[in-house]
Amino acid sequence: MHKLPDGRNVFQYTLKNRAGVTAQIINYGATVTSLRVPDRNGIMGDVVLGFDSLQGYIDGTAYFGAVVGRYGNRIGKGRFQLDGKQYQLTINDGENHLHGGKIGFNKVLWEAKTLGDREEPSVQLQYRSRDGEEGYPGTVTLNVTYALTGKNELRIDYEGTTDKPTILNPTQHSYFNLSGSLTNTVLDHTLMIEADSFTPIDRGLIPTGQLASVANTPMDFRTPVTIGAHIDDPYEQLSFGRGYDHNWVLKGSSGQLRKAAELYEPASGRLMTVFTDQPGLQFYAGNFLNGTAKGKNGIAYGRRVGLCLETQAFPDTPNKPHFPQVTLRPGQVYRQTTIYQFSTK
Ligand code: BGC
Repeated sequence: MHKLPDGRNVFQYTLKNRAGVTAQIINYGATVTSLRVPDRNGIMGDVVLGFDSLQGYIDGTAYFGAVVGRYGNRIGKGRFQLDGKQYQLTINDGENHLHGGKIGFNKVLWEAKTLGDREEPSVQLQYRSRDGEEGYPGTVTLNVTYALTGKNELRIDYEGTTDKPTILNPTQHSYFNLSGSLTNTVLDHTLMIEADSFTPIDRGLIPTGQLASVANTPMDFRTPVTIGAHIDDPYEQLSFGRGYDHNWVLKGSSGQLRKAAELYEPASGRLMTVFTDQPGLQFYAGNFLNGTAKGKNGIAYGRRVGLCLETQAFPDTPNKPHFPQVTLRPGQVYRQTTIYQFSTK
């Protein structure tokens, strides 16, 4: 898939299983560029937003399909302390740090090798992030493996190490639209999230530190709810996020792979089930998409035409000691497994 301005080649890998489900991945940003899954009549449709050319990903500012890091999500004022030392990260979102900074993991070239077999094709991508990059301490080596299983799952395994104490909290930033038409909004999709509480945010989208019950609020997705039903309710948390842009506190033990969410699109019958071993799930409803990004087939991606379900630790954890922490030390291995499983109903 063409060259970067500095001449380095970017490659696209196609994973295809026996059912004909395909995932395409480029080693720029470890980005998922397309994911074709069947609807209830067996018709394949692409369910992720993206671009037809590499240039779209180079110019893009909304992290379409990429792996984001070192720290997916926000760190208040880009500051944190580790072992008594203060670190200042790049500020790239108002007064805060978002998704790894100006040149995060989504804007770099990863080394790729194909693995797996016909039963489970996979591609492994590796990025070595240098000590001090975007303000983070330590050289981090992160491996991300995308596998397409026989059960129509895109499984993502992460493995990271460091040579100095640091923080690591990567996630996958695909925008999903299960309708197969990337012009419809996602407001008619239904969503279920396995969470009794969420982390309320301030105006800068930084958690206040509380865990709030979802009961009797528009944040209640314990049973499937149409996304458009309450997204514009006069509720302070929704006005801060311009819609849903919050972290839900997943039930069950983190470290254990468990169901996190179900996304369903009634017209096509496509159902996506998310499994993860992470403590949190950021549900971002594409509120900031504004039609400036011209995507596949020249379609302008307008507000809420795609949504992200980002599995990760909670935002701003280094500054919230009571949240599950993401410190990584030499000798330790960061691990994450997240699965996006596709079926129909
Ligand atoms: C965040 C949004 C942010 C978006 C950028 C999401 O993960 O939750 O607040 O605007 O990424 O594309």
